[in-house]
Amino acid sequence: MKVTVVGAGAVGASCAEYIAIKNFASEVVLLDIKEGYAEGKAMDLMQTASLNGFDTKITGTTSDYSKTAGSHIAVITSGIPRKPGMTREELIGINAGIVKTVSQSLLEHSPDAILIVVSNPMDTMTYLVHKTTNLPKHKIIGMGGALDSARFKYRLAEAMEAPISDIDGMVIGGHSDKGMVPLTSHATRNSIRVSEFLSENRLQQVAEDTKVGGATLTKLLGTSAWYAPGAAVSGLVQAIACDQKKMFPCSTFLEGEYGLNDICIGVPVILGKNGIERIVDVPLSNAEKAKMKESAEGVAKTNGLLEL
Ligand code: 2OP
Repeated sequence: MKVTVVGAGAVGASCAEYIAIKNFASEVVLLDIKEGYAEGKAMDLMQTASLNGFDTKITGTTSDYSKTAGSHIAVITSGIPRKPGMTREELIGINAGIVKTVSQSLLEHSPDAILIVVSNPMDTMTYLVHKTTNLPKHKIIGMGGALDSARFKYRLAEAMEAPISDIDGMVIGGHSDKGMVPLTSHATRNSIRVSEFLSENRLQQVAEDTKVGGATLTKLLGTSAWYAPGAAVSGLVQAIACDQKKMFPCSTFLEGEYGLNDICIGVPVILGKNGIERIVDVPLSNAEKAKMKESAEGVAKTNGLLEL
């Protein structure tokens, strides 16, 4: 199983590291445009192999897409991250051109690859890949909801003073500070609805803290987060590589599901060897339906900025 990660920055390198440590891939190729950067990160990561107990072969290349040939899965993290005070949507001017070029270069050498889009604004970048490549929609996956759901679980555990391993929860909708839809009506603590433990007000605060989880970290770090985004991507890669049939919220092209059309936005999907095996239609409360509609309007507005 060969996996390519484009962008050897913090997110891409973390993604490569988590994939390697999970030891399900035979090879991970890190690619970056900065001379020697991907090669250096790959070598540094390979020098952890004996320490972290993995056999995955990690190699790096500077802009040579021939080294990515035959990739089963390719992750696009390239582009600029946001700075404190910025929205993800403000990155579109620079990142759209990068993502379009990168996706086309990847598919030139791995025409059957499954692409996972991480670069922001992620839902719009996923839509861009859908519109500018001939890849079937089940092979184009946007990663945002898996990360947002991890932050949701973190905040729920914090609010209930519970171990995160007891918590389950999902965030759907757009991967944006205002557009996320934490499914508070479905979240559980060991199969019991969290509303049995938290007041409505406290639950709403958890949802709001989740939505700005990325911005909170960008303010603290001076740049976008990387550990949780890298780990979230590695979970999607593993589900595909190992045909796990796991359910994740992922950004995918909708054609009527959730009442939405011609948009990529986070919805529950089953991930397996074919990428998105199916979209899962989960019951939403009226409030969640309204938030999903509003979220889609926001994503569609950002999509309108694309020069397709
Ligand atoms: C985040 O929310 C980078 O969008 C990513 O941290």
